[in-house]
Amino acid sequence: MFTLRVASEADLDFMVRIDLADEGITHECPQRHTKADFTRCRQKMISYINDFRIGVWVYEDRISSCLVGLIICRFRNLLNEPSTDANLFLLKYLERDIFPENGRFTELYQLWVDPEFRRQGLATNLKRHIEIESLRRSVNMIYTHTEEVNSHVIDLNLKLGYREVRRGPICNEVIRVSLIKNLTTVELNQT
Ligand SMILES: CC(C)(COP(=O)(O)OP(=O)(O)OC[C@H]1O[C@@H](n2cnc3c(N)ncnc32)[C@H](O)[C@@H]1OP(=O)(O)O)[C@@H](O)C(=O)NCCC(=O)NCCS
Repeated sequence: MFTLRVASEADLDFMVRIDLADEGITHECPQRHTKADFTRCRQKMISYINDFRIGVWVYEDRISSCLVGLIICRFRNLLNEPSTDANLFLLKYLERDIFPENGRFTELYQLWVDPEFRRQGLATNLKRHIEIESLRRSVNMIYTHTEEVNSHVIDLNLKLGYREVRRGPICNEVIRVSLIKNLTTVELNQT
């Protein structure tokens, strides 16, 4: 019924809509997006699709051909990536020894499932897919964070074998929970 596939530029409208909606993130005031926001977001998504370090996968409902799920992650290496503010950002909040010695980890950016298709295991499958893709790239750790109020997202991660490594503000006063999962080849056999 659903196909999980790599996103392409044909999926940009969907990706931009989900990214700008920012569901699961607390905003002080209602979000109003300008045309410039849409253009910037579209450019960002195009760069994601074309960057070999970034993985974007979508779930498509085969019956309606509608896109019903999205996951975006970045395959990182702390040892050889440029020391930009964006790259150093997480290390301001997390101890270096949380990350593998070889510096390689997957950072989960975006996870979304259409409300009509929730609680059917789609997010679980998307996250499992990232595990396999990480292992294929010899990456053995996944990092994610979510707001403390998203207890269902925390539960989803705990069910998948993630463990909490930090709880506190990141980038603003909202309390966020940081979770990691250390992967073993067992994950390869679970699909
Ligand atoms: C979070 C989200 C991706 C979950 O997608 P999903 O496909 O419904 O998740 P799954 O069906 O794989 O759920 C797996 C488990 O997670 C937990 N879970 C997920 N959604 C839950 C909810 N709304 N309430 C309680 N538990 C929930 C449950 O333990 C669930 O297992 P169960 O259904 O057997 O009880 C989806 O609700 C969503 O897109 N939310 C908006 C975007 C968002 O918040 N993204 C994360 C931001 S960090």
